[in-house]
Amino acid sequence: MSNRGLEGVVVADTELSKIYGEEGRLVYRGYEIEDLAENATFEEVCYLLLYGELPNSAQLTDFRRQLESERTVPGAVLDLLRLLPRDTHPMAALRTAASALAGFDPDARDMTEEANFRKAIRLTAQMPTLTAAWGRIRNGQEPIAPRDGLGHAANFLYMLTGETPDELRARTMDVAFTLHAEHGMNASTFAARVTVATLADMHSGLTSAIGTLKGPLHGGANERVMHMLLEIGEPDRAEAWVRDALARGERIMGFGHRVYRALDPRAPILRSLAMQLAAQGGDTRWLDIASRIESVMREEMDRRGKKIYPNVDFYSASVYYTLGIPTDMFTNVFAMARTPGWTAHMIEQLRDNRLIRPKANYVGPLDKKVQPIEKRG
Ligand code: CMC
Repeated sequence: MSNRGLEGVVVADTELSKIYGEEGRLVYRGYEIEDLAENATFEEVCYLLLYGELPNSAQLTDFRRQLESERTVPGAVLDLLRLLPRDTHPMAALRTAASALAGFDPDARDMTEEANFRKAIRLTAQMPTLTAAWGRIRNGQEPIAPRDGLGHAANFLYMLTGETPDELRARTMDVAFTLHAEHGMNASTFAARVTVATLADMHSGLTSAIGTLKGPLHGGANERVMHMLLEIGEPDRAEAWVRDALARGERIMGFGHRVYRALDPRAPILRSLAMQLAAQGGDTRWLDIASRIESVMREEMDRRGKKIYPNVDFYSASVYYTLGIPTDMFTNVFAMARTPGWTAHMIEQLRDNRLIRPKANYVGPLDKKVQPIEKRG
């Protein structure tokens, strides 16, 4: 018998994060996610994931400067983006451009740990630039160059929209990045670790991870959540919409998780950010629809005896929409936020590497003989 979906299989020791699935608790390197979201910036969280401890003031200043200095991407990679059909999905554009970065990275083939740390910082810095550039290029606009002095999250919104975000919007983006930065042996992290475990380079690992995150059962769910909210359109239509979808046997995007059997701890933090943004903009429509969906789901799942609760993608959708991020770029936000997690995992994998090579249980026919081609039916 095979273990479908590798559920419950432990494939590595990690010092990066721990998920308490039954309690709905998430810890990065010993720190509770709520504490980090409230009291640290994304840059501090990146440093923590990469180096194992929060930075002191001098270390943070230096780390921010390193990130800032690595934000620019080669002009040739922007030219490559210009060659893509305009309707290329932003995650496909990101996957292509991230892969192409390898050709221009002075450390691409250097697999020493020092070089891998440099690439981890560089790739974390470059991912928002690539996403924002595609957001402009596909609309026939010129990419906006990164701006020094803006934090990682604020600079992304600036490069995407051309406007410097106010404090609430910048902080909201920053916290959303922190919440997505790391999450144990999720599918895309596993893909990255499998890739570098063959001793392929970090850009290959990143490209595998981006491709894996793209699917709607993983990072692609946030985009689908927004489609659902837009399709429902009005709070009063939510209940019938959800009940009809469940009756057709469909999954409701933004609900359920392989590991959590309780509320995903990231969801209430995002709900609170969504509430603050809605209050600032005076438009609570998406939140109202979301909370109606949540209560119908609670009722339906209780009735079916299933522990299905909102996950990180449920409230991130309305947060990103309110921040002015195009719906089809939501998963890119997840990818840029997860880059420190992915790269830290690749470094961890390589410290104690062994090829990851599970087995398959063959269930096909046996004892067949090759027939001459004219005798085959
Ligand atoms: N809506 C309705 N029913 C659901 C849902 C859902 N979103 N998720 C799971 N179920 C049901 C499923 O139909 C199954 O029922 P039954 O036992 O009667 O066949 C049962 O719950 C268990 O589902 P499963 O497919 O065995 O669970 P899994 O661990 O393989 O899947 C999941 C986890 C996240 C893929 C799934 O919950 C899902 O498809 N959710 C919607 C997509 C989504 O929001 N993904 C984002 C995940 S969080 C961010 C990330 O890490 O990427």
